[in-house]
Amino acid sequence: MPQSRSIASTEPAGLLADLDACFAEQDSLCRSLEELADSLPERLNTLGAVLLVGRLSALLRRAHHLEETQVFPILASAPVRMHGDLRPILNRLRAEHTENEDYALDLEDTLAEYWARPVARADAERLGYLLRGLFISLRRHVAQDRDWVRPLLRELGAP
Ligand SMILES: [Fe+2]
Repeated sequence: MPQSRSIASTEPAGLLADLDACFAEQDSLCRSLEELADSLPERLNTLGAVLLVGRLSALLRRAHHLEETQVFPILASAPVRMHGDLRPILNRLRAEHTENEDYALDLEDTLAEYWARPVARADAERLGYLLRGLFISLRRHVAQDRDWVRPLLRELGAP
């Protein structure tokens, strides 16, 4: 039975394939975050939410590490006369990584509070706000990675 590729794989299959695996995992987790937000407040599976956000934080750290240590150095080596100075764009993408990781940690804390205390309307509203803010921001970032980072990486000859 064929198994889906994961960035945790140790088999060398190429940077583009690893990147695609990251995108697919982030897409899937964004769908789950959206379902979670839609389930508030009555149908929320709090333990499932805590586990999901824990997976998300781990995935973001792995995906960002891959991009920042393997992808960005290749992009930074692109000839300036052909592509312009890419450093400001790469710095912005790094900043977005940090923001999304911080957002995920904030969400973890809020979920822990939500779990520990009786459900209050204000908790559900804050949680819904954080969930939507995270998956919207993450989808926007992944779209940029797909539309700009990946094609340029391919153009520059990444495996
Ligand atoms: Fe990224």
